[in-house]
Amino acid sequence: MPNRNPATPLSNNKHLLRWVEKMAALTQPAAIHWIDGSQEEYDELCDQLVAAGTFTRLDEQKWPGCFLARSDPGDVARVEERTFICSLSKENAGPTNNWEDPYVMRKRLKGLFAGCMAGRTMYVLPFSMGPVGSPLSQIGVQLTDSAYAVVNMRIMARIGLPVFKEIDKKEKRVVPCMHTVGAPLAPGQQDVPWPCNPEKYIVHFPESREIWSYGSGYGGNALLGKKCFALRIASNLARDEGWMAEHMLILGLENPQGEKTYVAAAFPSACGKTNFAMLIPPEHFQKKGWKVTTVGDDIAWLRPDATGRLHAINPEAGFFGVAPGTSAKTNPNAMAALAKNTIFTNVALTPDGGVWWEGMTDQPPAECIDWRGNKWTPAIAKETGTKAAHPNSRFTAPASQCPTIDPEWENPNGVRIHAIIFGGRRATTTPLVTQAFNWSGGVYMGATMGSEMTAAAAGTIGKVRRDPMAMLPFCGYHMGDYFRHWIMLQKSLKESPRVFFVNWFRKDEGGNFIWPGFRENFRVLKWCVDRSRGRAFARETPLGWMPHYEDIDWSGLDLPEETFDGLMKIDRAAWRAEVMGHEELFLDLHSHLPKEMLFERELLICRLGA
Ligand code: OXD
Ligand code: MN
Repeated sequence: MPNRNPATPLSNNKHLLRWVEKMAALTQPAAIHWIDGSQEEYDELCDQLVAAGTFTRLDEQKWPGCFLARSDPGDVARVEERTFICSLSKENAGPTNNWEDPYVMRKRLKGLFAGCMAGRTMYVLPFSMGPVGSPLSQIGVQLTDSAYAVVNMRIMARIGLPVFKEIDKKEKRVVPCMHTVGAPLAPGQQDVPWPCNPEKYIVHFPESREIWSYGSGYGGNALLGKKCFALRIASNLARDEGWMAEHMLILGLENPQGEKTYVAAAFPSACGKTNFAMLIPPEHFQKKGWKVTTVGDDIAWLRPDATGRLHAINPEAGFFGVAPGTSAKTNPNAMAALAKNTIFTNVALTPDGGVWWEGMTDQPPAECIDWRGNKWTPAIAKETGTKAAHPNSRFTAPASQCPTIDPEWENPNGVRIHAIIFGGRRATTTPLVTQAFNWSGGVYMGATMGSEMTAAAAGTIGKVRRDPMAMLPFCGYHMGDYFRHWIMLQKSLKESPRVFFVNWFRKDEGGNFIWPGFRENFRVLKWCVDRSRGRAFARETPLGWMPHYEDIDWSGLDLPEETFDGLMKIDRAAWRAEVMGHEELFLDLHSHLPKEMLFERELLICRLGA
């Protein structure tokens, strides 16, 4: 839409027009820009960001269409302690969420948002989570004073004119999302490259389905379609409407006969979700024609279809992936996806106009500019421990650019899910793979999943953080009610997906990983799929069904049976302690816990003979 006046509304929906007017009166922007979502508009906004110093354009030959942004050093990640679920009753938010009285919070936000966009443009950004028009999609409108948020959202969601058209049909409820970096400009005041506010609020009102985000321009704090909408608000919608909004990747496994099986999998942060979603089978299987395809790497919306089968969509359109550790070795598909049209945030800039991060190559560059904008060399790093890229530095890349993107990834009806895999990072206790006996056993597995904290937090190494279904920071209501919703969902399914638990991270007594991981995870995935299709063997154990050594296809890998036994070992003493850990979580959730969780725990104890 060249030469249009961006202040002219692109919708005729009276509610939307009135809301935009009201919010402009509150936030006092210097201009309003209705986002049409076109390439021209994107290019113009990127040019503006370059002029403002927020973006550096990367070398057009090596990194076509790519930009680097450096954030304020105080605005580098999601802020869980500043994230609130403001349900009418504190009870509904539950003990795992921060809660504030919605009336108190609204008053505070009104004060914070008054005049917060002065001197800036307010963008009216319509977005669809899920393909536009899909019965499984949801619509939001984000009002934001961050052009950075707009251009990132254009990669992460479907935005612009087609979404305004959907809104004008008035067939779907629209979730209002208010966002400001909280840095109004006085007349004549010079802007900074990354405006933000030390005070931050990421607030959700589940009953009125609203999101208000103040003070941050980074990731999940600012791209409101992602964690705020697609998980925290959507989990509330899902509970009310009989579906599920989950922190899960979706992948497809295709066998040489062309049969495709889709799997959804939940892992806590830093457990390799993006890598698993883009898995490349070991050479032996590739040659035979096995393929893994990617539907999504972070969020899945799952819903029973008319025939009672569970179907899932990826509500996102891009990957907001952690850069460090991503390489041609660990994830060539992610590297291909981010090779063009990608926005990098807080990685290092190389002298030839490229980017670098720890783990991208074995050899670091001789010199680069680190994420804070300072000169960085391997010698400086050795002396000061400074990282070239921030550990939470990111790439925002279009999903369509991933070489393994599944042909059905935008199917409006989603893909049929045959299996659900939960996983955690556990050096001990948890075997390589276990299949739950049934759905409620699977819900118990997901509910009690935990991950060991890494060396990042001194003194807590090995301490297990319970992260039920990897949803601890993302469930928008009481976690006990969430477990009940999982249990209830099965009642609307004619056939329930099989549920598995995997652990790639078990270590031997010397502290070395036992399992080679990466591509070899394919072998475990294949067993899970074969079990779900009713064609692989297993033995009954106290924890669930487990493969015998010979039930896993070891072609092309020399993994001795004793090593496998070590990976699959059930240490009864460790499991006694584990069950106590489950109890601790259950005590917190006690008043809302479905009784199935208690029965499952009892059965587990009985089976363990403890
Ligand atoms: C993410 C997260 O960014 O889980 O996906 O934190
Ligand atoms: Mn995530």
